[in-house]
Amino acid sequence: MARAPLNTIRTVAELRRQIDFWRGAGQRIGLVPTMGALHEGHLSLVRAMGDVADKTVVSIFVNPAQFAPHEDFDEYPRNESDDAEKLRETAGDLIYAPLQTEMYPGGFATGVSVGAVADGLESDTRPHFFGGVATVVSKLLIQCWPDLAIFGEKDYQQLQVIRRMTRDLNLPVEILGGAIVREADGLAMSSRNAYLSPEERVVAGQLNKIMWSVASRARASGDLEGSTAQGCADLKAAGFDAVDYLEIRDADSLATLQRLSREARLLAAVKIGKTRLIDNMPV
Ligand code: PAF
Repeated sequence: MARAPLNTIRTVAELRRQIDFWRGAGQRIGLVPTMGALHEGHLSLVRAMGDVADKTVVSIFVNPAQFAPHEDFDEYPRNESDDAEKLRETAGDLIYAPLQTEMYPGGFATGVSVGAVADGLESDTRPHFFGGVATVVSKLLIQCWPDLAIFGEKDYQQLQVIRRMTRDLNLPVEILGGAIVREADGLAMSSRNAYLSPEERVVAGQLNKIMWSVASRARASGDLEGSTAQGCADLKAAGFDAVDYLEIRDADSLATLQRLSREARLLAAVKIGKTRLIDNMPV
């Protein structure tokens, strides 16, 4: 039987009324924060949450605080009715798409800042990013007060930053990571893939392949620096315009590693034309 469309609510007061009602009935609440433009990667998070929570709230909010003035906030794909239809066909119980004024009312002057795990990698080229993410995610968690929240592993550093933040602030929510969903050629699904021209899309498919060879070379040789240096050269040769980083880091703290003595993660950010792609994998 076809599922009914999900209700969309736009204010904290309405959200809390619904959550109180569910919680009063003893139900476990899950939150899936998104910026919309939903693809299979997001839908897999919503399905995964449906397996462990009784009610799943999907938030859709393109958060201006995590974009620098020169970034793609205005062009970021938005299609709320398409998103609602995808969720109706798939999973989820409620859409929370707050108004800008609900999230950032006039005079808003508070920010959440995370250190250590948020330093370096993404922050080297996007210094504003994790402050914006930590602020909006802490607001969403406080507004919804879920038992569980899930974030995609594609944004691996973001996931570790959110884990750190919830631990440090004693937020009573369990943070889950959702596996990366990939296209047939290995490209990690991302709303920003829509920016790629057909030629760029072919090059983009090389990112994951080159990362696999870096990871296996590092495992076989133990030479982390040499393996990533070779990977950077291979990415340039494959047609990427810039490599912001290609690094093997400690999988939890994201501290730099000299050798593979602990669980490690290979993380990359590259540019092709005007599109920036990120990816990561265990080493
Ligand atoms: O990963 C995203 O889509 C965003 O950074 C998030 C977590 C929804 C915060 O705006």
